[in-house]
Amino acid sequence: MTQYILAIDQGTTSSRSIIFADDGRIVAMAQREFSQHYPQDGWVEHQPQAIWDSVVSTLHEVFDACDLTVDDIATLGITNQRETTVVWDKHTGQEVYPAIVWQDRRTAGTCRALAEDAELVDYITRTTGLLLDPYFSATKVNWILDNVEGARARAAAGDLLFGTIDTYLIWRLTGGQSHKTDATNASRTMLFNIHTQQWDSRLLETFAIPPAMLPDVMDCAAEFGDVSSDLLGKRIPIQGVAGDQQAALVGQACFEKGMAKSTYGTGCFMILNTGDEPLVSKNRLLTTVGYRLNGKVTYALEGSIFMAGATIQWLRDGLKLIDNAAETEALAKRAREDNGIFMVPAFTGLGAPYWDPDARGAILGLTRDTGISEIVAAGLQSVCYQTKDLQKAMESDGARPVTLRVDGGMAKNDWVMGFLADILGAEVKRPTITETTAVGAAFLAGLQHGIFTGVDTLTHCWQCDSVFTPRLTKSQRDTAYEGWKAAVARIRCS
Ligand code: G3P
Repeated sequence: MTQYILAIDQGTTSSRSIIFADDGRIVAMAQREFSQHYPQDGWVEHQPQAIWDSVVSTLHEVFDACDLTVDDIATLGITNQRETTVVWDKHTGQEVYPAIVWQDRRTAGTCRALAEDAELVDYITRTTGLLLDPYFSATKVNWILDNVEGARARAAAGDLLFGTIDTYLIWRLTGGQSHKTDATNASRTMLFNIHTQQWDSRLLETFAIPPAMLPDVMDCAAEFGDVSSDLLGKRIPIQGVAGDQQAALVGQACFEKGMAKSTYGTGCFMILNTGDEPLVSKNRLLTTVGYRLNGKVTYALEGSIFMAGATIQWLRDGLKLIDNAAETEALAKRAREDNGIFMVPAFTGLGAPYWDPDARGAILGLTRDTGISEIVAAGLQSVCYQTKDLQKAMESDGARPVTLRVDGGMAKNDWVMGFLADILGAEVKRPTITETTAVGAAFLAGLQHGIFTGVDTLTHCWQCDSVFTPRLTKSQRDTAYEGWKAAVARIRCS
């Protein structure tokens, strides 16, 4: 008899619930967007209640979209936007401040001040695999405790809990019974020792975070608690959890050392499986937990770009040049080739490999005959050029990806994927199912539940839909990339 798995994919701009059959088929999907808040330049917030409401709505709607009922669901997996920080009262469930989103740069000053201490900077990288940057949760928790009246005293008294979005959802889904996270999400907090797999007491002290606020860290396939029966009418075990980019690594079946995936969501995250060894980057890439199964850690090297789909969203909502993302493909095809226009979408600074929180975006090379098509094409190309930056950084760390698998919304755009292959000078492979983050979460839950026996199951299920092969000559590719590098140099602050 077919077994079904429910996956929650809580992303930066929307929440989704997807039901998978045990052969990997998507049976039904429901999606809800929720509001983004930008209270100041560089600040990005979400209302935790709005996230929760969007998740609960999709959990009901996904059953309206198919013939299954909750009784058909064997297990549940969660994947989520990472680093985004929530602090809430453990007695009332009330958050003390809105969620501070991963893109938020309000703690750039704090990071700059801490960066004066070279020994600390080195310790952070050696211990957590990360760079001292506002992107990660540590300075966000610290900011909340410092800036919300009474929060520090309540935290010291043991009344407040911290969680990334997985933890917050687990806590609410289990009716406040379970305060847990998984090793991939923990590895993005800048508080977790990725070698010992424990919270790091020195970093907790540095960021003045009481240990009692922290969730227990589990394997990605583990017992995270049961969804309370009040919510869907039946208890469902939560048995798989991974941050969305790591879930995509799993969903893309990148289980061998050297396999890499790039996910084009709000941002773009390229992750390379480096096996048992945490590879330390000399090019400001992150060393992170790829996944942890049966207590065994597989490490990964990650390049994080903050603006991918978000650039297209800005073309749509900010500039109002397009009505929807799907239009961009036809527009880009109409753009004049080699037009010398570069868009650097540093709306909230630049991520890897630059890590420049103060840089701001620009469009360079405009002429009188620049039209909407050229600007749209430059927006799309910026995502590919940034992926090239990551590919080069990985290569010079001695870790050239042997395969690049792509997914996420923008991966559906053939023009972008064609240009990506051109500029990388490498083959790009797109799977038939591009909902790889949810696939990863469902797979992890199915693994724990005993539906799947091991990672081989997923390796055999992965199917290629399209392969994009480079068409540019080396010299054309180099000229285009030089143009991008010159544009980035013009907007950098550090
Ligand atoms: O690190 C942030 C990342 O997890 C967000 O992913 O898909 O919401 O852009 P996404």
